[in-house]
Amino acid sequence: MLLHVGAHSHIRKSAETRRGKKLQMNMETVNNVEPPLALLAELTHRCPLQCPYCSNPTHLSGASGELTTAEWQDVLTQASDIGALQVHFSGGEPTARQDLPNLVRHAVSVGLYTNLITSAVTLDQKRIDVLVEAGLDHVQISFQDVDDVNGDRIAGMAGAQKKKREVAAMVRRAGLPLTVNLVVHRQNLANLSAMLEMAVGLGAARIEVAHVQYYGWALANRDALLPSRDQLDRATEEVDAARARLAGAVVIDYVVPDYYARLPKACMGGWGRRFLTVTPRGLVLPCHAAESLPGFDFPSVRTGTLAEAWRASDVFNRFRGTDWMPAPCSGCDRRELDWGGCRCQAFALTGNAAATDPACGRSPDHALLDIAVQDARAEPRAFIYRRIGGVPA
Ligand code: SF4
Ligand code: FES
Repeated sequence: MLLHVGAHSHIRKSAETRRGKKLQMNMETVNNVEPPLALLAELTHRCPLQCPYCSNPTHLSGASGELTTAEWQDVLTQASDIGALQVHFSGGEPTARQDLPNLVRHAVSVGLYTNLITSAVTLDQKRIDVLVEAGLDHVQISFQDVDDVNGDRIAGMAGAQKKKREVAAMVRRAGLPLTVNLVVHRQNLANLSAMLEMAVGLGAARIEVAHVQYYGWALANRDALLPSRDQLDRATEEVDAARARLAGAVVIDYVVPDYYARLPKACMGGWGRRFLTVTPRGLVLPCHAAESLPGFDFPSVRTGTLAEAWRASDVFNRFRGTDWMPAPCSGCDRRELDWGGCRCQAFALTGNAAATDPACGRSPDHALLDIAVQDARAEPRAFIYRRIGGVPA
């Protein structure tokens, strides 16, 4: 799974329409904490693909210990009750859960807009029709390349790209809106223009071109994935050209790699401000990569409520707002725009989750990015594929 949240204004609009009056009730702040916009429901870590850029933790969990159907239904109800408008069903591969239609049906019944983020390789027309009947609103399918050989190599699964194209056509036939996610890096960027054409041909209303972000498995594979500056500049030109050509017909979102940034992204729209994640075993996280942070006692839906986790837990309050910020963030005029960048990236690069994100040119650690870029200049290393038990050394 590679997720970039924050670019879902179209989904927000649809969700607000659906929620109607209930939204008005739930949007009230409690103890100065705004309600979340969306729940990322990581239903499982099981996945038939092995993408080396996956943002799941490197210690993947197996099927035993996953939340039950009833537990997930309760989570969905609670998410709606605290004001969430959307649920993104993700993983791993969410369709590995045979109860997915039940969960979609339940999410719809409590007023959530439902988005399925899938590799698509486990779907067929019958399963899609069942999901449509359950009320699914939207599907996102990720592609590894337009070239089947390279795409299947990156995904670690023979036949994956062909199956994805077939399923994308089924999704459109079923009348569901489709987003195509193109996760790009140094080993597929040469094909970006052709990938964009493929996505248009598949009938995507929205295309997300996302450079890999370096957490989880992607961090372990950074030297194999990080593009050169020239590759990045060419990709940006190609995206700009496609945007101009497709204006009014297809929306293209573009997520650039932080390693070439001067200003950091407002990761998750700010810690504990818009999103919450529930893991397969029920931990409640402020972002999908937060399990990489040591020393955090993450709340669990098995021992407490989502409301307590969102509003009162130490984990969610630790980096909420601006009071926690060190210099230079504490005195910076952008502190309520980017919220100090990404906590997981700050930890991954400096060992301190409370540091200014090194992606910021004002960070005293900004030079660490240059070192990473230098390291990635050599011949790419072989991939460390995402596998249960395949924790990199
Ligand atoms: Fe953002 Fe902090 Fe950098 Fe200012 S110093 S731009 S708040 S990360
Ligand atoms: Fe965790 Fe950015 S990915 S805060």
